[in-house]
Amino acid sequence: MTGLSGQPLSLEEQKQLAVNITHVLSLYGSIVDSYIIEFFTDNLWGKLPYSWQAVLTDLPSPQLAAVLLEKGKPEEVCYSVVWPLSLLAFKATAHTLAFSRTPRGRGGASANGRPEEFRENRCQSSKLNPLFRKHVKPKKQHEVRQLGKVVKKLSEITRCDQVVDIGSGQGHLARFLAFGLGLSVTAIEGDGRLVDMATKFDRELVWALEKEQARRTKDPVEISLRGPSHVTGWVDPQAPWQEFLLPPHPGIDTAHSPMAESSPSPEAGATYDSPEPRKIIPPTAPCEGGRDGAETGKAGEKGPGGWSCMAAAREEQGGTPDPFRSRGRGYVPNGPHPLYRPSRPMAVNPLGPLAEGRLLLTGLHACGDLSVALLRHFTRCPHVVAMTSVACCYMKLTTQEEPTPPGLAAPSPPSTDWPKYGYPLSAWVSGLPGHALSYKAREVACHAVEDYVLRLRSESPVLRTHCYRATLETLIRAADPVKRRLGVQTVNKAHQLAFEEYARLGLQRVGLDPAAPLDRACVDAMLAQQQNVVAFFSLALLLAPLVETLILLDRMIYLQEQGFQCQLIPLFNPSFSPRNLVLVAAKAGLGSALSTLAGDD
Ligand SMILES: C[S@@+](CC[C@H](N)C(=O)[O-])C[C@H]1O[C@@H](n2cnc3c(N)ncnc32)[C@H](O)[C@@H]1O
Repeated sequence: MTGLSGQPLSLEEQKQLAVNITHVLSLYGSIVDSYIIEFFTDNLWGKLPYSWQAVLTDLPSPQLAAVLLEKGKPEEVCYSVVWPLSLLAFKATAHTLAFSRTPRGRGGASANGRPEEFRENRCQSSKLNPLFRKHVKPKKQHEVRQLGKVVKKLSEITRCDQVVDIGSGQGHLARFLAFGLGLSVTAIEGDGRLVDMATKFDRELVWALEKEQARRTKDPVEISLRGPSHVTGWVDPQAPWQEFLLPPHPGIDTAHSPMAESSPSPEAGATYDSPEPRKIIPPTAPCEGGRDGAETGKAGEKGPGGWSCMAAAREEQGGTPDPFRSRGRGYVPNGPHPLYRPSRPMAVNPLGPLAEGRLLLTGLHACGDLSVALLRHFTRCPHVVAMTSVACCYMKLTTQEEPTPPGLAAPSPPSTDWPKYGYPLSAWVSGLPGHALSYKAREVACHAVEDYVLRLRSESPVLRTHCYRATLETLIRAADPVKRRLGVQTVNKAHQLAFEEYARLGLQRVGLDPAAPLDRACVDAMLAQQQNVVAFFSLALLLAPLVETLILLDRMIYLQEQGFQCQLIPLFNPSFSPRNLVLVAAKAGLGSALSTLAGDD
């Protein structure tokens, strides 16, 4: 992560940045701590300085994007009225203190708003071998290819002989690293069903590869036949490194997992070998934020209460027929290809007491404390020499104020001297007054600012969803004050409904009478404030990157406090993949090598 000079920030500069951000958040944090659905019930608009209300009220969406959220040159921003200095300073500070999310030299998007690689085909990356695109959504294709290259380079410069992918989901990254880039990979995933899918996709790839090779005898495809080794196991963020893996969580259906099979076969995945089962932190809490949260107003996407990381990871399952059940065209035998070799023998906890060699830990969108576990095991396990971490779901981080965020069971009692909770990790940030981040602030940090800007610019009708929901909240509370912030966000395509219809569905969802008469004048008065709801949410989104920056700064400072070198690299296209900052670290001093990992294509 570079400063104004273009040079990476020194540790002292990082510490100062953390001080500055905590200071700003102590002044304006109430904006990111607010729930937009409480816009009317909590009079959020009335809590803004009067001078801010005066210039923001009824500001058209494209102007909100241009004057507030977009980081244009100051002289190019056109204000139609004189803005108060405090608001101008607030905006400038928010833009200045947040880490840049623009990938170096590769920020360009093609005409369809997608990365260049999707110019010709919206769904198929032109830069990824078609064999690695099957079952993989465009966003994941983009991420896997970019992160794969970084992991490959890092493993070369740190001379790693094994990559461990933590929270590997359906194994898309692990598959590309192993088959595509020839790395020896162990993929660890807590959900046995995902492990099942991953091993099936591996098998399918090998058979497809064989067909391809047979077709192209003169010009063979350069792909390894050594696939990843899949392990079903639960990573305990609090465990000492020897106890890295736990049995899969009992709540997870492992009936179909390779672990349920009597004798694990190479294609079926491995088992953990943790010494003693410890207390297990269950996997699923709703992934409320980001592009998936209903608060972004993105209709048709799963919202709070209806979505989990595991669900997200399984998302591509829907509509994807199991290729191994089909006996028609494209039939793939239900067994390993004769030439297929997994990366390493089964039943080995890659970080357990039997660990050997030089390991690189990687985690693509490892949610909540799972990214923290990755960092902790990097600092603790002598075999781990490098790591790359892309975080997500910051609201699932454990904190002193919220040791068990919604959906997580009580954490294991901390057994050692390292930080108890997922945030803060560093001694420096822990010592800063006002460093605490509320659940809501961490959830807002998962939103996609770039995506919202696109909606503002196009005056998307989806923008009305927040106002609908905030109005509904007043109706719900009027009917039953105990019912607060309940999840009704699964109202499909809410923005296309008349408010009455939306309200009827919403009231029904929270167990209230859908036919109750509405106070039309009151409802209309609230709906008329839609643009102010949008403006307030834009202010929260302006601060959201500061929250993410503080969380990632804390991790960087923690790694350096432990004596390790690290870099934060904006890697993915931020409009396409909003959690796009990759934290890279190595144990040996690599000079400037870390900052050059994300070279141009
Ligand atoms: C957001 S998904 C990302 C999946 C995959 N890396 C990808 O990018 O497609 C996070 C994954 O981590 C898994 N997971 C979460 N916490 C875990 C833990 N403590 N141990 C093992 N797996 C975990 C979830 O089951 C889920 O599949």
